Amino acid sequence: MSVSELFQPFRLNGLALANRIVMAPMTRNFSPRGVPGADVVAYYRRRAEGGVGLILTEGTAPCPGAQNAPRVPHIYGEAAVQGWAKVVSAVHAAGGHIGMQLWHVGAAQSSSGSSKLPAAPVSPSGLYGPGRKVGEPMTQAEIDAAIEAFAQGAAEAQRVGFDAVEVHGAHGYLIDQFFWGATNHRTDRYGGDLVDRTQFAAEVIRTCRRRVGPGFPLLLRFSQWKPQDYSARLATNPAELRRFLAPLVAAGVDAFHCSTRRFWEPEFEGSDLNLAGWTKKLTGRPTITVGSVALDTDFTEPFRGATGATPEEDVRTVRHLDRLLEMLARGDFDLVAIGRALLADPAWPQKVRDGRIREIRPFTSKVLETLF
Ligand SMILES: Cc1cc2nc3c(=O)[nH]c(=O)nc-3n(C[C@H](O)[C@H](O)[C@H](O)COP(=O)(O)O)c2cc1C
Repeated sequence: MSVSELFQPFRLNGLALANRIVMAPMTRNFSPRGVPGADVVAYYRRRAEGGVGLILTEGTAPCPGAQNAPRVPHIYGEAAVQGWAKVVSAVHAAGGHIGMQLWHVGAAQSSSGSSKLPAAPVSPSGLYGPGRKVGEPMTQAEIDAAIEAFAQGAAEAQRVGFDAVEVHGAHGYLIDQFFWGATNHRTDRYGGDLVDRTQFAAEVIRTCRRRVGPGFPLLLRFSQWKPQDYSARLATNPAELRRFLAPLVAAGVDAFHCSTRRFWEPEFEGSDLNLAGWTKKLTGRPTITVGSVALDTDFTEPFRGATGATPEEDVRTVRHLDRLLEMLARGDFDLVAIGRALLADPAWPQKVRDGRIREIRPFTSKVLETLF
């Protein structure tokens, strides 16, 4: 199977991408007081120089209280916005494209244990997980403010030159706290069945869309799994997934970023399509797949203290790449997000393209300690 499948151009709502490789959004905590500095500029520029088609930034807070650590970047306040403007210029100068991921952690704020954060956590029902009460249910005014913060963040990102915005609706954070029945017990229009629970996200997307206009790529990332419960699922069959996605498509999502921990795993019985495959099939929208591309341990393991792969282990061989290329060639999904492999080696795309596989620097959790 030829790697050339990964190097075909792609158009995403008018945005011309040179190839199918996306840098997955990855929180790095290197932006003191929320301001990305010269090291962050160089970090993203390196990935553009290395041949990434579309960089997605780390999760970025659109308002105070949206982040769970003090060094998570902001997209509010002049210093942070100017910091991001420099990142965008550097990526564009290197011939790359970059989208900003907008992130509101909601009830997950308290899970970090930091006392330096500026606002109390907001969440649909004051729950971080089943039976884990951390606050009070959001008022309508707080819901309106959060929606406005996402829209304002999207508008700021567009204003400083970002090529796209991705709304983070995955991994048990605020939007996912609305999606997930275990954390959304509301009895107003934001709660109820699976479709009712998409109301908050749909309002976020609709409001962002109104602000950025029709010709600006707007992505939504979602996941079945949550760090609160890796086995949690929003949709247990294709019919449910279709009902879940329909209001989000109608609200104006251009592409879905389907977060899975292992891209090769089938989502539902009876088909080998993964979550990105089903999402594309059910919505007709482009999708991004992700999860352990070129790696054999899922990304949560370094954080749980058991990497599985030892540094000596040869993770240089690009594992499962044949399977990935086969699924891409078949049209299951359009774009492929790479996370840890790109942290370890910013030139991953060029090395794969040129067959310099043995030169790829392997990922170990040590890579997370520096911003290279
Ligand atoms: C250090 C680190 C930080 C992450 N931060 C985010 C984030 O801010 N937003 C997000 O949606 N996913 C985040 N993720 C998940 C990645 O985007 C990606 O889905 C995951 O790493 C799987 O891809 P991989 O197996 O290629 O690493 C993070 C992952 C890592 C390793």
